[in-house]
Amino acid sequence: MDILDTLKKRRSIRTYQDREIPKDALKQIIDVARFSPTARNEQPWEFIVITDSRIFSKIAKLGDNARFVAYAKACIVVFCADTKYYLEDGCAATTNILNAAAALGIGSCWVAGDKKPYCEEVAALLGVPPELKLVSMVALGYPADPSDFKLGFKKSLRGMLHWEKF
Ligand SMILES: Cc1cc2nc3c(=O)[nH]c(=O)nc-3n(C[C@H](O)[C@H](O)[C@H](O)COP(=O)(O)O)c2cc1C
Repeated sequence: MDILDTLKKRRSIRTYQDREIPKDALKQIIDVARFSPTARNEQPWEFIVITDSRIFSKIAKLGDNARFVAYAKACIVVFCADTKYYLEDGCAATTNILNAAAALGIGSCWVAGDKKPYCEEVAALLGVPPELKLVSMVALGYPADPSDFKLGFKKSLRGMLHWEKF
């Protein structure tokens, strides 16, 4: 897919094929995340790749918003050092993860981290030092239905694009 097409066709995908994601693909995705923009070039992120379904089951129980993680084939958890712009930096990296996955034909869905009551629990589960901030967890898997990569419903460009003035 052309890069602009990939960006537009990335959708949150929550149902997956029973097919492993090659380790090389996961490494490639993290490698792209590493090139994300970051305030003051601090690059405060740490990426934890999980492939153990026992851990997925625990994440899935954190809340209704995470239930589908039980069926993921991998999950990339994004933590950041507690810098001034950790949230922006972690979100930029998360977006690169989603888009890199889409470019490889891998479905993904962002699971909220920051602001959720389970941040400390996730850090403890993964052995992460408590001073690091949980930004997101990205569930990954080949889409159960490849047509899940689609344009889907989005607000119109006309409604949000303002030239020169609001
Ligand atoms: C900060 C953030 C947190 C999100 N948290 C969750 C979540 O906890 N569970 C979930 O199923 N989707 C979550 N999503 C995915 C959104 O629901 C999804 O991006 C939105 O509905 C738009 O759909 P699309 O990604 O297919 O374009 C999150 C997205 C963002 C940006």
